[in-house]
Amino acid sequence: MASPSRFAPFVFLLLVIRSTARPLYPLPGKGNHGSRQPLQTFRPYNIAHRGSNGELPEETHQAYMRAIEEGADFIETDILSSKDGVLVCFHDVILDDTTNVANYKEFADRKRTYEVQGVNTTGYFIVDFTLKELKSLRVNQRFSFRDQQFNGKFQIITFEEFITIALDAPRVVGIYPEIKNPVLINQYVKWSGGKKFEDKFVETLHKFGYKGSYLSKNWLKQPVFIQSFAPTSLLYISNQTDLPKVFLIDDVDIPTQDTNQSYWEITSDTYLDYIKQYVLGIGPWKDTLVPVINNYAMTPSDLVSRAHARNLQVHPYTYRNENKYLHFNYSQDPYKEYDYWINNIGVDGLFTDFTGSLHNFQEWTAPNHHDNTASKLLHEIALLASPYE
Ligand SMILES: *[C@@H]1O[C@H](CO)[C@@H](O)[C@H](O)[C@H]1NC(C)=O
Ligand SMILES: *[C@@H]1O[C@H](CO)[C@@H](O)[C@H](O)[C@H]1NC(C)=O
Ligand SMILES: *[C@@H]1O[C@H](CO)[C@@H](O)[C@H](O)[C@H]1NC(C)=O
Ligand SMILES: *[C@@H]1O[C@H](CO)[C@@H](O)[C@H](O)[C@H]1NC(C)=O
Repeated sequence: MASPSRFAPFVFLLLVIRSTARPLYPLPGKGNHGSRQPLQTFRPYNIAHRGSNGELPEETHQAYMRAIEEGADFIETDILSSKDGVLVCFHDVILDDTTNVANYKEFADRKRTYEVQGVNTTGYFIVDFTLKELKSLRVNQRFSFRDQQFNGKFQIITFEEFITIALDAPRVVGIYPEIKNPVLINQYVKWSGGKKFEDKFVETLHKFGYKGSYLSKNWLKQPVFIQSFAPTSLLYISNQTDLPKVFLIDDVDIPTQDTNQSYWEITSDTYLDYIKQYVLGIGPWKDTLVPVINNYAMTPSDLVSRAHARNLQVHPYTYRNENKYLHFNYSQDPYKEYDYWINNIGVDGLFTDFTGSLHNFQEWTAPNHHDNTASKLLHEIALLASPYE
C-alpha cells in the first residue's frame, strides 16, 4: 500500500502540469544557483542557434530565454560591434532584414555600400550605429513563414547581456558566441590602445569568468565554445585563451573570409592536422557533409570520420523543422533527421533553430538521468501507477 508521502510528488506534479500546461524540463527560475544541474556531456550538444529563433525573433533576450526553457545545452550567438565599439548580438552586418530600421526617418541617410567578403553590399550597416541607436530599434522575425506576432517588440542585446542570460539560468547553460565578420569589424571599428575586435571579444569572456580548457572544472562551471569562419581570428586568440574553439566551414564554393582558402583546402587532411592544434572541432554546413541532390540526401562525405580520426568534434549547422528544409529521405519528420545525424553520422553537437524539438527527441531516445526534472518524475510515477491499472 502506498503511503501518502509516495503520492505527494504525484499531486505536486499534477499541479505543475495543470498550471503551466507544458514543459517536461526545468523552467528558468531564481535562487537555486548553489546546486545547479550540470551541463550534460554524454550525448550530442543541443546548440540553440540564435536562440529559439524558429519561434521568436533571433538573438533577442526572449529567444534565448525560450531556448533555455526548452532544454538548450548552449545558446548560440553572432558577435558584431556598434560604431562606438560595444559588442552586440546580431547576425547580419546590415540591419535591413531583421530590424525595423527602415521606419526611422532620422536614420534614412545612413544607407551605405561597403565591400563585404568581396561583394558590394548596400544597407544600414551595424557599424554605423551607436549602441544607443541600435537599442532604439526593434528586431523582426527573419523568415516570412515564421510567426510574425513578435515583430517590433524586442531589442538588440549586447554580448554582456547575452552572457548574463546564460549565467542567470537555473541550470548550467553554455554559450557559443561567434567572432562574426572580423575583417569588416576591424576595418570600420577602432578601439583604444590599438585593440582589435578579437581582443575585446576575449576580454569580455574573461571579465565574466570564462576560462579553462574543454571539460576542465572551470569550463564545466561556465561552458563556452568560441566559433569563427575566420581561421586567423582563432589562431590570434589562441594566444589569449585556452577556451575551446570551433572552426566553422562554409559551403563548398565559399572561400574563407580572411585567408581566401577554398573549402577543399581547409577540409584536407593536411589542414585538419594543422588546425587541430588550435581548435577542438569543426562546424560545417550539414549539406556539405551529406550532399543534397534534388532534395535527396546523398552518400555522406568522409569529413566526419577524418575529423573524428583527429579527435576533432563535429557540430554541423543548421537543423530546422520546416518542410522546406527537411530532405525527402526524412519523411518531413525532424525527429527522423535528428536520428540519422546522431545515430548514423555520429555528430557531437547540432545547431538547431528548434531547440525544443531536438531536446524532446534526445530525452525520448537518450534521457538525461542526471536531469532532476518533471520528466524523470513522470517516469517514476508511471512505474508507481502501472501496478494499479
Ligand atoms: C564595389 O564598388 C566600387 C565602387 O563602385 C568598385 O570600385 C568596386 O570594384 C566594387 N567591388 C566589387 C567587388 O564589385
Ligand atoms: C602567439 O605568441 C607567440 C609568442 O609571443 C608569437 O610568436 C606568435 O606569433 C603569436 N601567434 C599569433 C597567432 O598571434
Ligand atoms: C582568392 O582566391 C581565388 C582562387 O584562388 C582567386 O581567384 C582570387 O583572386 C582570390 N581573391 C583574393 C581577394 O585574393
Ligand atoms: C535518400 O533517398 C534517395 C532516393 O530514394 C536515395 O538514393 C538516397 O540513398 C537516400 N539517402 C540516404 C542518406 O539514405
